[in-house]
Amino acid sequence: MKSRGSSSDYLQAIIDSLEDELMVIDPDYRIILANKAVLMRHEKQRQEVIGQYCYDISHGRKEICRPPHHECPINAVWETGKPARATHIHVYYIKGKKRERYVDIIASPIMDSQGNITAIAELMRDVTEAKEMEMKIAEAHRELSALNTIATVVSQSLDLDTILSSALDKTLELMDRNTGGILLWDEEKQMLCYRVYHGLSKEHVQGVCCRLGEGIVGKAAQTGKAIQVKDISTHPDTVHPCLTKAEGLRAFASIPLRAKNKVLGVLNIASHKAHKFSSKDIQLLSSIAAQIAIAIENAKLHQDVQRKDEIRGELLGEMFSIQEEERRRIARELHDETSQILASLSANLEAAVGMLPPGAKKTEAILRKTQTLSINVLDELHKLIYKLRPTLLDDLGLVAAIGWLVDNNLRTAGIIGNFKTTGRVRRLPPQLETMLFRVIQEAVSNITRHAHAKSTDISLGFNKSLIRVHIRDDGRGFDVEEAISSKDRPRGLGLLGMKERVELMNGTLGIRSRPGSGGTEINIEIPLN
Ligand SMILES: Nc1ncnc2c1ncn2[C@@H]1O[C@H](COP(=O)(O)OP(=O)(O)OP(=O)(O)O)[C@@H](O)[C@H]1O
Ligand SMILES: [Mg+2]
Repeated sequence: MKSRGSSSDYLQAIIDSLEDELMVIDPDYRIILANKAVLMRHEKQRQEVIGQYCYDISHGRKEICRPPHHECPINAVWETGKPARATHIHVYYIKGKKRERYVDIIASPIMDSQGNITAIAELMRDVTEAKEMEMKIAEAHRELSALNTIATVVSQSLDLDTILSSALDKTLELMDRNTGGILLWDEEKQMLCYRVYHGLSKEHVQGVCCRLGEGIVGKAAQTGKAIQVKDISTHPDTVHPCLTKAEGLRAFASIPLRAKNKVLGVLNIASHKAHKFSSKDIQLLSSIAAQIAIAIENAKLHQDVQRKDEIRGELLGEMFSIQEEERRRIARELHDETSQILASLSANLEAAVGMLPPGAKKTEAILRKTQTLSINVLDELHKLIYKLRPTLLDDLGLVAAIGWLVDNNLRTAGIIGNFKTTGRVRRLPPQLETMLFRVIQEAVSNITRHAHAKSTDISLGFNKSLIRVHIRDDGRGFDVEEAISSKDRPRGLGLLGMKERVELMNGTLGIRSRPGSGGTEINIEIPLN
């Protein structure tokens, strides 16, 4: 075994072998022992450390560490006699360069044989990497939760102004600011115009627009890059009213709202104090801006679809009324001309029979047959005229017209037809009566053509603010989804036409059918306003 030398050398050798820094500090905060790790960390010789104040060596301070920035664990040990922990930021000069490191400190009491504290041993571990990682994780967490919040807020609506104002409010809350606004690119004006703002006065913002490339806002939009200014009151680019110098704004950041490589607008965040937005703030704002831009795109697409849907509805309505007008015209012509001709043909045939010489039996038989044929054609013609546009509908209204449908379509097809009304029966607006008649006509036509039903119930309910139609057959039923989504056109246009007509009247149509023998049930509700 090797000689251990003096016990103090041995002790020094032990503490020098530690990777962590170890110092022993006397009651006057002077270092009485330090290991090699301390000397190496501070790039000092032992004699430059021993006898010095711990706060001078660790922090470059000239006085004892105090809260809030430097909680000294040594004081707690002197007071309680128990070990204490703290995390400090220590300042080192490595090759002349100042560096800050996070250090975990465990201070423990050193006692004499009587149990009195004579000194404090401080064991220090460099936790900078872990701390930096922790901060990076915290930053990433902040960014993710901010983005999550913005994504949640902007996905709650498809209305552009609602999206913009809730996105702006949330962004300001997340950034702990109270002044900002969003400008959008106006295609007509070819300018960026304020859509929503917060913390700015109306007269300085409302209706304010700026050109591409003009001022900070215009430049951010033109370049597609975020611009920040520490103090716009001293900045040459602040002349434009968009920057509302009159509002006393100082720090200012303009973040472009980009989607699919297109700048849709700009997000502005400002404050009344001059300061620099950190690169992390700008990075977070840029991620937020990207979320807002996607939401703007979606809202615009939704607006487009809505507008197209409105136009489609208008066109359909127009088409239905042209179709009705045309049916009415053809029915009138058939009635006034063709049916009159057939009627006089029949009358002339009757007269011709009366003029025949006695004994012309053969000729009489031919004329009588021709007259019967003309009467049959006239009957068919009347049915066609009714199908095209039952005059009953115009003259006596919906209830009479449905009664006629039941008598002339269902019953003639051998189906028992029950029709009843509920509520206060009254005339409805002509357009609504026509629409309901056409829908019920199609349902009845489907029953006679496809259902193989024995009976059908139709009820028409007149409520104060609602018209209810219920049609039920006991036929073989069908797969509604399949029939409606069938690509096999023109089959399936009847049901679609029913749906379109009902929707044009802001109503609802429900079809329940059970393929097999479950029958079919149709429920329609049209609001009366
Ligand atoms: N009441 C019903 N009972 C059984 N099947 C039905 C009924 N109503 C509709 N169907 C089925 O749904 C399909 C689609 O009906 P729809 O009225 O849309 O078209 P269609 O009657 O075939 O043709 P049209 O365009 O001339 O109306 C029908 O072909 C039929 O198979
Ligand atoms: Mg049909």
